[in-house]
Amino acid sequence: MARQLDEQMAGRYPVGQRLRVLDVGMGQGTQALRLARLGHQVTGLEQDATMVAAAREALCGEPEGIRERMRIIEGDGRDTGVHFLPGSFDVVLCHGVLMYVEEPDPLLAGLARMLAPGGLLSLLVRNADALAMRPGLAGDWAATLGAFDTAAYRNRLGLDVRADRLSTLTGTLAGIGAPLQAWFGVRVFTDTAADDTEIPGDVDALLAAEERAGRTDPYRQVAALLHLCGVRG
Ligand SMILES: C[S@@+](CC[C@H](N)C(=O)[O-])C[C@H]1O[C@@H](n2cnc3c(N)ncnc32)[C@H](O)[C@@H]1O
Repeated sequence: MARQLDEQMAGRYPVGQRLRVLDVGMGQGTQALRLARLGHQVTGLEQDATMVAAAREALCGEPEGIRERMRIIEGDGRDTGVHFLPGSFDVVLCHGVLMYVEEPDPLLAGLARMLAPGGLLSLLVRNADALAMRPGLAGDWAATLGAFDTAAYRNRLGLDVRADRLSTLTGTLAGIGAPLQAWFGVRVFTDTAADDTEIPGDVDALLAAEERAGRTDPYRQVAALLHLCGVRG
């Protein structure tokens, strides 16, 4: 997923240009820190105080140059208009967040407004069109049958959350002025692996297989997650 993001950024901006990045729902800041290390000016917006503290702690361990390039704000992703001026960012990330937002459209419209013309909106969402895959591959047939006509699911933390459909988001992105430019499947083969699964020796082959499937129909259509990239017109 990071590779796809870097590729989309590199395809839009000259190599070496310091981009203004907003990471909404950055969690403990893994992606935000990675981009700051690459030289970008990163702002992380996160509503959970514990996550914000973890991100601040991680940032403390970085060299001064990186610390100066990253700003962390505790707040709700739906309130970007309170914190920033429209058009303030070249790249806006919203990864693994839409699941927790009951009405994603206002959030997404706010994120699109934060983008400068030509800016990139990167979304990582749970794929509602493939919710039957996880229980199906686990042999839980009752749950599989229940997963076909819904966008609701229970995640591994036991929380009842929601998924998104590619067709719906394609329409939403067009409607908010950041039409879909590219999309990828993420976790085509590995979604059923437990979180504590040992990293296999042939991890490079695994990543290459995932990468290939994530770019290839029909595999990407049944990926657990979808990575969508919209571009502000
Ligand atoms: C699954 S984590 C993803 C973290 C990170 N983006 C990543 O991809 O690893 C979801 C994060 O979104 C945050 N979040 C959920 N709703 C949010 C909202 N409305 N505003 C800001 N953060 C939010 C949660 O607190 C959590 O840290």
